Amino acid sequence: MLKICVIGLGYVGLPICIKLAKNYKIVGFDINSERINSLKKGIDLNDEFKKKDLKKKNLFFSKNIQDINNCNFYIICVPTPITNSKQPDLKYINKSLLLLSKILKKGDILVLESTVYPGVTGEFINKLEKKTKLVNNRDFSTCYSPERINPGDKERNLNNINKVLAYEGNNKKVKILLKSVYKKICKKLILSKNIREAETAKGIENIQRDLNIALFNEILIICNKLKLNFNEVVRLASTKWNFLNFAPGLVGGHCLPVDPYYLTYIAKKRGYKPKVTLSGRHVNNYMKKYVIDFANFFIQKSRIKKNKIKICVVGLTYKYGVADIRNSQKIQILKYFRKKFKFTKGFDPFLKSSDKLDNNELKKYNFFIFLSKGEKFENIANLLSKKKIIDPFFYYSK
Ligand SMILES: NC(=O)c1ccc[n+]([C@@H]2O[C@H](COP(=O)([O-])OP(=O)(O)OC[C@H]3O[C@@H](n4cnc5c(N)ncnc54)[C@H](O)[C@@H]3O)[C@@H](O)[C@H]2O)c1
Repeated sequence: MLKICVIGLGYVGLPICIKLAKNYKIVGFDINSERINSLKKGIDLNDEFKKKDLKKKNLFFSKNIQDINNCNFYIICVPTPITNSKQPDLKYINKSLLLLSKILKKGDILVLESTVYPGVTGEFINKLEKKTKLVNNRDFSTCYSPERINPGDKERNLNNINKVLAYEGNNKKVKILLKSVYKKICKKLILSKNIREAETAKGIENIQRDLNIALFNEILIICNKLKLNFNEVVRLASTKWNFLNFAPGLVGGHCLPVDPYYLTYIAKKRGYKPKVTLSGRHVNNYMKKYVIDFANFFIQKSRIKKNKIKICVVGLTYKYGVADIRNSQKIQILKYFRKKFKFTKGFDPFLKSSDKLDNNELKKYNFFIFLSKGEKFENIANLLSKKKIIDPFFYYSK
């Protein structure tokens, strides 16, 4: 009988657990006791799932290795961050490797879902073989299936996105099993016979998005220097059949500011220093300073005395519609203004800890710095006089 264990219950692992619990017995495993305790109580601190989703008959949460050593299908969804010097940090992958080396048995299937650079799954397999003396594609099977979920996106979710699944073995039973499990997760499976190609594909999906945003950020900066209306410039260019439109903004979260460094790391190791990819990162990392300078210029121009300045920074999570503040440049911008002006408040309805902002309060502030684009913030901007709006990305400038 298939008994599935999902290792790492974050934004990626938990939805998979919940999906699969409709058909299989699932153990959700995490090393974070706080995460396990709250999930057991039916609370998802990421605010994505309700009690009824977490309290399913087939779904069990644990942080104990004894609860997962009789599983035979392991899906690994642990974080893959970068270090302070922007190098891939594989410590969580290595921890899960150590864990699996203690429990791996003949017949087990492993699927890595974390975003990695090409070759990491291979290294993982080699180390596991050395530690267990079991052989991949003979005694056990390993696959790679990168995650594509887009937090906050109501249209594209696990149900309707295509999912890549790479398996290099020839075992028919394993292939059937893999397909039957993954068909329960997503509608369409894209199969690959090469794990390194699937690892690379995941990397370039995010690099492309990062670069597209970086280009629009750069166009925005240039328009500002030339005193041109960015929206108007883009509106005109968009009338050409092959012009692709993207919104500028502060890139944050766990994917775009991180994943490009995985591919550039391995490219450098192989003797090529990526230029385009890193230049996109460079521009997107610079945008925090751009916003601060833009807002300071606007504030100084008003000639309001420093002790009379009251600022509200609107939009704090890394993107509109999610509660996640990981790598959010917006939080850093809020911190900067809090340090500079005594009366600075941050507002984001998607953040539980955020202060409230009612219509009465709108009068209290002389400046609103808008850092995210979305309906709730547009409604606020519509209530304000133009001289109060600081809109570095031209989101609400008509
Ligand atoms: N969040 C997304 O939208 C998204 C999208 C695509 C890909 N990814 C990738 O998926 C992976 C997971 O990302 P996430 O956002 O779910 O991370 P996350 O930080 O939300 O959650 C990861 C969980 O793994 C746990 N963990 C860490 N090491 C562990 C170990 N050794 N054993 C068991 N549990 C462990 C942590 O405690 C945490 O609860 C990353 O590689 C990320 O790049 C994320």
